[in-house]
Amino acid sequence: MNPAYLASGGWIASAVGTAAALGVADHLGSGPKTAAELAALTGSSEYALARMMRLLCVAGVFEETADARFANTADAEVLRADHPRSMRHFCMLAAGDYQRIFQEMSHTVATGEPASRTVLGGSLYTFLSRTPESGAIYDGAMEDLARPVGKVLAKSRDFSAIDTVVDVGGGSGALLKGLLTAVPHLRGICVDRPDVCARAAQSLVASGSALGDRLEFRAGDFFESVPPGQPLYLLKNVLHNWGDERCVDLLRTVCAAMASRPTARLLVIEPLAESPMPAMYKALDELMQVVISEPGVAARSEAAFRALIERAGLRVLSVQTLASGHALFDTAPQE
Ligand SMILES: C[S@@+](CC[C@H](N)C(=O)[O-])C[C@H]1O[C@@H](n2cnc3c(N)ncnc32)[C@H](O)[C@@H]1O
Repeated sequence: MNPAYLASGGWIASAVGTAAALGVADHLGSGPKTAAELAALTGSSEYALARMMRLLCVAGVFEETADARFANTADAEVLRADHPRSMRHFCMLAAGDYQRIFQEMSHTVATGEPASRTVLGGSLYTFLSRTPESGAIYDGAMEDLARPVGKVLAKSRDFSAIDTVVDVGGGSGALLKGLLTAVPHLRGICVDRPDVCARAAQSLVASGSALGDRLEFRAGDFFESVPPGQPLYLLKNVLHNWGDERCVDLLRTVCAAMASRPTARLLVIEPLAESPMPAMYKALDELMQVVISEPGVAARSEAAFRALIERAGLRVLSVQTLASGHALFDTAPQE
């Protein structure tokens, strides 16, 4: 593609993020709309919104009908909040706070240090704790990524002998919601930072979800402690964000929580460096790790994960590839 168009790609990202935030695809879900109708529904300037929509039509997200209305293409469907594979919040995160950080990518390329530190004035999670609007978008983005994996996990093994699952760093509980919906006798405890748990618990009550009495949010620092003595622990896409030493600290905390129950298991669910993910996903994710995550984070192979798990006092019982493409390490305390 013409590099001048690619260099303007951030404009397209901003248009996608703005359309996602305004809920344009949701409004178009009931049928094509004129720019004036969309502007009225979203409280926008008709003139500016029409130009943004035209760019997104050229990019293939929306399309213009013969009678000058805008409509969703198949690709726009995942911008809808109610789509089962919704990526609406991920698009808002990628085009918002992440894009702000990526604008300083030259700092990362020059030094190898994450630009997030300089742009956010500290670590990502400290920033998110202090900025609730950004925190809520980040939680929603993680939910978008985790939502499809709950069902896949439910099909991957037999949960009949387990009553409670603890998801460590489980965000707003998307993985547990999928798993608990598919396995009705299970209870879930989701451990995350206090602001994440407060938002998630409030939204679970507000939604009137049938999972309200089976899913509990427990605020805590997973480097300090996690609820002890439970039969099954999950750690999904968490190690991905931390350097080796912090990963071993975290795995040791979970291992300590398992000590009073020798049959306890920890399932580590992570993408592998060698996983057959689409090339664009892989390249973006690997760049995200150096620009945004903690210093020294890189994609890990199966052997690298095994080494971390074993250093923390756990042993790997098996490794399987989930339908989502993630590797699932089934682990238990070393004897
Ligand atoms: C990359 S997200 C993964 C979320 C979820 N497991 C998933 O797969 O969607 C990492 C999660 O770790 C949480 N987290 C980061 N530091 C934490 C800490 N010290 N204690 C507890 N949770 C933490 C974040 O708030 C976030 O929800």
